[in-house]
Amino acid sequence: MSRTPLIAGNWKMHTTIDEAVTLAEAVAEASQGLSDRQVMIAPPFTALSAVAKAVAASPVLIAGQNVCWEEKGAFTGEVAPSMLKDAGCTMAIIGHSERRHIFGESDAMINKRVLGAQGAGLIPILCIGETLAEREAEKTFTVLEEQTRKGLAEVTITDPAKLVIAYEPVWAIGTGKTASKEQAQEVHAFLRKIITDLYEKNIASQIRILYGGSVNSDNVDALMAQQDVDGALVGGAALKPEAFIRIIRFQ
Ligand code: PGA
Repeated sequence: MSRTPLIAGNWKMHTTIDEAVTLAEAVAEASQGLSDRQVMIAPPFTALSAVAKAVAASPVLIAGQNVCWEEKGAFTGEVAPSMLKDAGCTMAIIGHSERRHIFGESDAMINKRVLGAQGAGLIPILCIGETLAEREAEKTFTVLEEQTRKGLAEVTITDPAKLVIAYEPVWAIGTGKTASKEQAQEVHAFLRKIITDLYEKNIASQIRILYGGSVNSDNVDALMAQQDVDGALVGGAALKPEAFIRIIRFQ
């Protein structure tokens, strides 16, 4: 089984262009020579192109924090897949809980974004996650299954490296409250079962499932030691060079 771990930094709505370049340079330097893991950063749209230039000589990958399903037209406020590629991106975060819960993005819209990204050759990182109320009502698995199936409707996969799933419990995002390693593993194994149902076994077994939600330099090693945790999607700690570099160097 070959699932190359992926450590992804989601910078959200932070950093000026200059701040982004400085942070990206630190990440690029720390990523030199790493061959057993991948590192990705998702700066705000305004800094993408400057960051892409800053990390060009390094293995660091760049992602958009969202992507439209259309290539051009009257879609004020949206960014097309080809625009992300033009700015240096190879990946796009889609369906982040902040998009779902603050901006009201539906599973149907998120599915269109996944299909659009994939069609343009970008690797989608499909985010899913239950709220605290859903977990307390014991609806975690139902919610996650629905988000996964709807988000991946009509999505075909021939190369498992070309799709990433990120499990981010909403109650763990930005709260300092991380899922325990057992909770993360339980959900990741469940998600792997769902994708095995959707795709061929040898494809599903190779799709990477990241964990996100208050990942930091203290908990990353335990999370990454779980069998089905193939990487981390990091928010707050991705803005602190020292912490993110330690996370990249998980053991
Ligand atoms: P956090 O954010 O690490 O600050 O909890 C994770 C995310 O939203 O991707």
